[in-house]
Amino acid sequence: MVTAVGFGDRKGKGNGGVERVCCELVRGDVNGGDRERMEAGDDWQLTERIRASARSGKGDPFAAAVRATRMAMIITDPRRLDNPIIYANDAFLRLTGYTRLEVTGRNCRFLQGPETDLDTVARIRAAIRSEQDVSAELVNYRKDGSTFHNALFISPVHDEDGTLLFFFASQLDVSERHALAAERDRTRTALDANALLLGEIGRRAGNDLQMISAMLTLQSSNSRDPAVRAALAEAIGRVEALGALYRQPVPADESEGHDLADLVREIAVTRVEASGRDDIALAFDLAPYRIRPRAAGPLALVVNEAVSNAIRHAFPSRAGTLTLRVVREGEDLIVTVEDDGVGLSTTADGSFGTTLTDVLSRQVGGTSRVRPRDPAGTAVEFRFPAEPIRA
Ligand SMILES: Cc1cc2nc3c(=O)[nH]c(=O)nc-3n(C[C@H](O)[C@H](O)[C@H](O)COP(=O)(O)O)c2cc1C
Repeated sequence: MVTAVGFGDRKGKGNGGVERVCCELVRGDVNGGDRERMEAGDDWQLTERIRASARSGKGDPFAAAVRATRMAMIITDPRRLDNPIIYANDAFLRLTGYTRLEVTGRNCRFLQGPETDLDTVARIRAAIRSEQDVSAELVNYRKDGSTFHNALFISPVHDEDGTLLFFFASQLDVSERHALAAERDRTRTALDANALLLGEIGRRAGNDLQMISAMLTLQSSNSRDPAVRAALAEAIGRVEALGALYRQPVPADESEGHDLADLVREIAVTRVEASGRDDIALAFDLAPYRIRPRAAGPLALVVNEAVSNAIRHAFPSRAGTLTLRVVREGEDLIVTVEDDGVGLSTTADGSFGTTLTDVLSRQVGGTSRVRPRDPAGTAVEFRFPAEPIRA
């Protein structure tokens, strides 16, 4: 039995493009011998009229678009046994690797396989049963057994009386997006593992620095020589300044960097506490700035030298305030340690600390400068080109 079906004719006006879809299809009964005839390719073809319209170029433009689009599309007939495919466009055949003859008359589940998610299939089944739109992503299999991620959209087509006529579906191969997402997940997992490892290394380095500091403290307490004790106290200060780096959250990679403001604050607080001087106040004016881990070590040490110097020399017998600033000036980043103490004459020029400061400043492409501060005291200024040290 063969019946001609024109989608547009059945649906009337105002129902959007789908009704006008396609072509007329010559329908046969899917059962028994009809199915064999179908598979032989006799009945399941565009009618001569549609072919002619396609040839003449005067056919329904929407039908032509469905045939020619790169988006895979099929139509199934729910009034036939097992809702078989009655039309598949070329893009569907290219996507799945089957011929038109191999797909027509079959339910689309032949695309499914072991990796297809059964819950998704159940959701599709329920939507089809209740004649609802459904979109889903699921693993499908090509004829050659290879898989692809199919972003499937199925829509029922009803006539104006609400009778279900067809299901219309589009299939989009989204395998690339899935592969990218999987790659992103793998990268994230690797980064997480890296961060864990870095955290652990950081903790161990921090512990080692604490141990060095404790040993130097012990050594210092065993010495009666004030010069030895002073030298050891300086060394302890430097070790603790580096330790501040590991008390900050360890940056997962170079691009995260250390928070310079936190680093400067922590070093200053630690140094003043270690001095036992409760008459030295601290003030901060710190612009937020992240610096590369490689720059953080030298910067921690130069700030430590300046703060230690100020505590030692600026306030011999009186209270005072230490002000620490981080500002951006044009291309430069400026870290300043200012005291309102007794003034320049007390700074220890030519000392190991000064040499260390010069060497470390140069290491990060910067310079250091000591100048009198108005109205009183001294300012030590470190100027670095901001970009190279910025995280
Ligand atoms: C128009 C239409 C297109 C469909 N396209 C696909 C498809 O591309 N891939 C797929 O796995 N299932 C597709 N399905 C779903 C299956 O044909 C079937 O409905 C689903 O497997 C649930 O039914 P079942 O539990 O009887 O298999 C489509 C269904 C319809 C109605």
